[in-house]
Amino acid sequence: MSAKRKRGARSTAPATTNRKVRDGVEAAPPSLREDASPYRVGAVGRPPQTADAPGESQQRSAGSPLRFIDLFCGIGGFRIAFERAGCQCVFSCDLDEHAQITYEANFGERPRGDIYSIPDNAIPPHHILCAGFPCQPFSIAGVSKKLSLGRKHGFEDKEQGNLFFKLAELIDHHRPDAFVLENVKHLQRHDHGRTFRIIWETLTDHLKYHVYHRVIDAQGLVPQHRERIFIVGFREARHFEFPEFPAEGPKLESILEAEVPEKYTLTDHLWNYLQAYAAKHKAAGNGFGFGLVTGKNIARTLSARYYKDGSEILIFQGPRKNPRRLTPRECARLMGFPEDFKIPVSDTQAYKRFGNSVVVPVLERIAKAVVDTLQRPVDFRPELALEMNDKENAGAAKRGPVQVSYRKLRAKRKG
Ligand SMILES: C[S@@+](CC[C@H](N)C(=O)[O-])C[C@H]1O[C@@H](n2cnc3c(N)ncnc32)[C@H](O)[C@@H]1O
Repeated sequence: MSAKRKRGARSTAPATTNRKVRDGVEAAPPSLREDASPYRVGAVGRPPQTADAPGESQQRSAGSPLRFIDLFCGIGGFRIAFERAGCQCVFSCDLDEHAQITYEANFGERPRGDIYSIPDNAIPPHHILCAGFPCQPFSIAGVSKKLSLGRKHGFEDKEQGNLFFKLAELIDHHRPDAFVLENVKHLQRHDHGRTFRIIWETLTDHLKYHVYHRVIDAQGLVPQHRERIFIVGFREARHFEFPEFPAEGPKLESILEAEVPEKYTLTDHLWNYLQAYAAKHKAAGNGFGFGLVTGKNIARTLSARYYKDGSEILIFQGPRKNPRRLTPRECARLMGFPEDFKIPVSDTQAYKRFGNSVVVPVLERIAKAVVDTLQRPVDFRPELALEMNDKENAGAAKRGPVQVSYRKLRAKRKG
């Protein structure tokens, strides 16, 4: 990997030195609203309405939207979130044909295929790089499956683990203002932390980004326990805070359909098999069983293997009836996709795609926080903004409104 641009200092928190101030602004720009009207798929993102602060390499005219690329786009969870945050998608790619079909039906454009077949310079300039990079080499299930098959895993997996290095190569080539990466929570612990350390050092030491990360459970926004790690990086030393999420959220009854076709009810054969399997594992002291829930509960994590037997989320239908799986539409809701999201593929493919996806409203909040951060001055620090507001208020009370510039306040503080 080239080390051509060695700017800024490595940091897990924002650095306070070596900063450029573009504008003295009077106040932090208003946050984009959380209560945006329901998303219409295919709608063009609302342009940001606040101060323009483009990165050096990704200049944009005032009022034009921040551009993002949607790598490993799947069915477009990142796309909905970033469009809702006012950004414009300029490139998408995913290897999977059914993901491409779904994405095209909803966004009117067919994603490109294998990332390795696309030269770095064929990807258009962008401000934000988004990637829910394939997690199989990093997930507990993926690791144990691969180990049991005698395969390598993590970075040694030439087909999937190295996709992270492809990402790093793209970040190095394009130097976007920011990136947002998503993966399974287990990424942090994989290979005794070695995998995550390599990722972290690549992003900070080698690429010189200022990087933040957090594990977020989606259950505050959708009725599903789903923990994912989000890694957000900025080319410049910007202050960033992950949004807060409620600890508790809606229950399954909020996403269940009133009328569900019989084909989603488990056959006697499958239901007997799952019960016997669970009993066997319970006797052996293992906790692996099916997840039988009612509308008053929340679901376990929907996985890409849900199509096989649906065992992780089975809906109780009363004592005289076998439980049922979720329908694909219920899976869409469980992942926070909008009601008009089109599902043009078979149930099996739909389960796989939703199980691989991001929870849209979680990412939407992160996207808005990233956009807000990029629209502030590079050296924005919340404590300075608070101090500025206090002075404004005190001044206004005594002698009418006063103008306190963020830049002056910062200079005074430094001096
Ligand atoms: C975890 S999923 C991401 C899902 C996506 N974030 C969403 O919201 O639907 C990873 C995706 O990477 C895709 N993928 C794997 N290898 C790829 C490659 N070499 N080039 C492009 N896409 C690839 C898979 O098809 C899969 O859809």
